[in-house]
Amino acid sequence: MTDTITIRRPDDWHVHLRDGAVLRGVAPHTARQFARAIVMPNLSPPMTDIAGVSAYRDRIMAALGADPAFTPLMTLYLTDGTDPDEVARGFAAGVFVAAKLYPAHATTGSAHGVTDVARIMPVLERMAQIGMPLLIHGEVTDSHVDIFDREAVFIERTLGRLIADLPELRVVFEHITTAEAADFVAGAGANVAATITPQHLHLNRNAMLVGGIRPHAYCLPVAKREHHRLALRKLATSGFARVFLGTDTAPHAQHLKEAACGCAGIFNAPFALESYATVFDEESALDRFEAFASLNGPAFYRMPVNTGTVTLVREPVKVPDVIDCNGMAVVPFHAGETLGWRLVD
Ligand code: DOR
Ligand code: ZN
Repeated sequence: MTDTITIRRPDDWHVHLRDGAVLRGVAPHTARQFARAIVMPNLSPPMTDIAGVSAYRDRIMAALGADPAFTPLMTLYLTDGTDPDEVARGFAAGVFVAAKLYPAHATTGSAHGVTDVARIMPVLERMAQIGMPLLIHGEVTDSHVDIFDREAVFIERTLGRLIADLPELRVVFEHITTAEAADFVAGAGANVAATITPQHLHLNRNAMLVGGIRPHAYCLPVAKREHHRLALRKLATSGFARVFLGTDTAPHAQHLKEAACGCAGIFNAPFALESYATVFDEESALDRFEAFASLNGPAFYRMPVNTGTVTLVREPVKVPDVIDCNGMAVVPFHAGETLGWRLVD
């Protein structure tokens, strides 16, 4: 039995670091585990231009005490009014590495998102020309569509057509949660990739709803039926090159999750590698963990892999019930559980 795994330093291709005091509380958890992270722009107000994204990047670096070992990779928030020239300028200048498509009202901080992909075709055409990745929250927002079907319907109504119309566009289908999405990405061309979160590898919807409602298992897209979870585990651990690690760590204050209308989001940054390693171990796929965590993402984003390594050892790690994020109490993913892998500092 393998008791130690050493892999190239990994990256997290989807994080929410928030802003202000909370940023100082949560960013170090991501920086401890990962060399780089794709930072989501769904702040209030959203990061919709070069000046805003650039200033946010400076705040992240300041929050980390300019930790030279961590690089935030910034993203632009697309709206119906996004200017293609601004997108191209910011990408050329290295201010952002990708742009994020939130369908309007799909999730937290998406009120200013895109109301119809047709409205941003000039932006997407420009992105296809310059090779800039589009990161997609893939859910329809039509009130007639059941929340558990929203990802599959997005593939049918929007994503399939977008990729057919713009095959050169580089797309990351983020935090996929269904067998339909896993099949779609596996069958798509070289320009389409996906990320998978630890929670969608561990949890199905029963974990959220049976025996009481568990707000800390609630995120968007919401966890689905067991057969979807199994399809995601299969894809993640298969060695397939266009799937990679993206935690979607999304901290919310404990009292805002444990509420009559609880916020969507799971704070998984503190034990992310331990959580993923557990899945790869359970699937007898530890030999494929490095590709998922450290190699496939850089290959898709056309970036070098990181130098240096991290090591995980087979040892029990107790996850605390609550973590103080610079004054904000947040319940982490796996709170109160003992995981079987420990990241060596
Ligand atoms: O659960 C989620 N939380 N899903 C998202 O898409 C956004 C995120 C957040 O920002 O809290
Ligand atoms: Zn997210």
